[in-house]
Amino acid sequence: MSGHGPSAEDVQEEQAHFRQVVTTFRQYRQYSLSANIRRRKDFYSLPLPHQKLLREVGWYQKLGDVDDAILVNADFLEQIVDDTEIFAGSVDDLEEASTGGEQEEASSSDAHPHAEHTHEHGAHGHSHGRHSHGHAHTHERVVGSSSVPAHEHRQKVSEPDMDKLRSTLKQFVRDWSAEGKKERDEQYEPILQALEEHFKDIPEDGRSDIQVLVPGAGLGRLTWEVVNRGFSCQGNEFSYFMLLSSFFMLNRSPETNKWTIYPHIHSLSNLQSEASLLQPIMIPDVLPGERKQGPDFSQVAGDFEEVYGLGARDQAEAWDAVLTCFFIDTAKNIVSYLEIIRHLLTPGGVWINLGPLLWHFENNSTKDVSIELNLAEVKVLAEKMGFKIENERMIETTYVGHEDAMLHHVYNCAFWTATKIK
Ligand SMILES: C[S@@+](CC[C@H](N)C(=O)[O-])C[C@H]1O[C@@H](n2cnc3c(N)ncnc32)[C@H](O)[C@@H]1O
Repeated sequence: MSGHGPSAEDVQEEQAHFRQVVTTFRQYRQYSLSANIRRRKDFYSLPLPHQKLLREVGWYQKLGDVDDAILVNADFLEQIVDDTEIFAGSVDDLEEASTGGEQEEASSSDAHPHAEHTHEHGAHGHSHGRHSHGHAHTHERVVGSSSVPAHEHRQKVSEPDMDKLRSTLKQFVRDWSAEGKKERDEQYEPILQALEEHFKDIPEDGRSDIQVLVPGAGLGRLTWEVVNRGFSCQGNEFSYFMLLSSFFMLNRSPETNKWTIYPHIHSLSNLQSEASLLQPIMIPDVLPGERKQGPDFSQVAGDFEEVYGLGARDQAEAWDAVLTCFFIDTAKNIVSYLEIIRHLLTPGGVWINLGPLLWHFENNSTKDVSIELNLAEVKVLAEKMGFKIENERMIETTYVGHEDAMLHHVYNCAFWTATKIK
């Protein structure tokens, strides 16, 4: 913890970023429909005999089905940002403040990256510092629509932000659908089994005293699974796309299969059939609100290094386990991540890791530091920093994969448990 709160400038910047993310959710409808308009335009530029053939194979009619699916996705995404009060006050208030109204000083819980609300799981304060979720302004497109609140006509949506939103739709498949079970079984299960194995001597009714931290928690399924096994768990995230979506899933799902989404409609490449393009996904596959009572369950918004860094003295040796799934390669400086994990763990505590080494900052254009180690180097480093690595193996798996597609990215992920020994 830095010891002093964020400056007014930081708060303003954060609010602007938050507003931008909410606007992206709200403008998904028009933005995505316009991509389909482009396809129609191209179609009409073709010679008539070609158009006739494309109608005969059903390609043209399919565009109408994609439009319908966009509208269904849009309804779902708009519900997520219907009520953002818990994050930063109403976005409309923020808008007023930034367009002439007096800029209110944010309350400490709003402005503080460590804000945490355990009564409703996944309530968040502000996050500070993000990289790929920052303000990228390439390929901006302004979209106008009568369904978008008037003030949002003025806001631009960037293609990178819209891309993050489309990825968020796929992330729902991974974490909260029956179709995501294969990935979860391949990745979350080994992590959960290793966690139970490490604490096998603790009786089940004592597990809620065991504190588990999941940095880079994504849409929250792993944290939910940890709690359902009886452990207390805290997720940490810094992306508003993830925070808004996980909060909605965890706290606002009234029944299983409540929503249908179409996550595969945004690219017509590498598909075998129309069914594959228009595959409906029902979420959530479980009732997130139905979880074991007893363990603490919370989510903290903010940059992992800022919230839990060495300056955060209250975090020292506060955690019995740290679970990283597809996370450690988000580090600019992996030495710092390992130093923090070590600082967080109690002696004998365990760090369980699964993931590739797709260094997020490699070749960045933002002049950020990036240190890219290979797997052998990461393991030597961990041992030098006081971890005993065990249970090592490689696990082949996908990340938000589309089973039906003609292209698959398969990662050969490293798995290990590392005990803090000194
Ligand atoms: C590749 S995703 C993995 C998400 C999740 N663990 C899973 O397996 O589905 C990495 C996540 O870490 C988050 N993240 C990256 N850097 C972070 C940081 N410094 N602090 C907090 N979260 C971070 C990203 O927003 C993203 O949700």
